[in-house]
Amino acid sequence: MKIALLSDCHGNIAALESAMKIVESQKTDQIYFLGDMVGYYPNPNECLEIAKKHNCLMGNHEYACIHPSYSKLFNSAAQNAIRWTKNNLTVDNIDYISKLSYTLEDMDAKIKMAHGALTNPFEYIQSKVTAFANFELFTEQILFIGHTHRAAVWTQSLNEPYDIKLTEVWESFTFDLESDKRYIINIGSVGQPRDGNPNGCFVIFDSLEKNIRFIRFEYPIEVTYQRALDAGMDSMLCNRLFAGI
Ligand SMILES: [Fe+2]
Repeated sequence: MKIALLSDCHGNIAALESAMKIVESQKTDQIYFLGDMVGYYPNPNECLEIAKKHNCLMGNHEYACIHPSYSKLFNSAAQNAIRWTKNNLTVDNIDYISKLSYTLEDMDAKIKMAHGALTNPFEYIQSKVTAFANFELFTEQILFIGHTHRAAVWTQSLNEPYDIKLTEVWESFTFDLESDKRYIINIGSVGQPRDGNPNGCFVIFDSLEKNIRFIRFEYPIEVTYQRALDAGMDSMLCNRLFAGI
């Protein structure tokens, strides 16, 4: 099976459309979105229309749209973007995001998925301690996550479970899975990368070939920049797209 996994599109439809062109050319069997289809940029409904055709998880920005008090944890630019998003989502899309789940499994590909982590749906896996706690909570070989907007591979050796390694991924990159290892794969962000590379990022998992491809792709950043400015989004949110931060 060939599976595309995309996360953190954040209402950036220009980025998502560019990603979907590549996904469609790869003839994947399944497409999963790992949450945060909304927030930050001004086309959340268009992003959700694409997600609805496939499978989607609850991200913290969807959660904030339906639980307004949660958005108080966000910085002021993100809070303003959530307010804008909530006021602009269709009734159908509010209903859709309110029913999203926090985890998904693909029984055929034998993978698990979450937005941020299994320990807490919106926790950031950024340390070996947190990675280890999450490895304890799934039995499949691979857990796919998003949330940090930084692509990465956490590898656990079956022989030495405390031996966890982190490989950060800044460019397109393919690696072969090893049968004596388990993985937490952070698939990066389609719509707002934060690793210094402004190109979007997503992943294709091939369960027969047993490999994972990180795909970095260009998209017309200036289109999203202008749409976001025109919608009155915070200029910091617009400018950061060009730097990938
Ligand atoms: Fe996000």
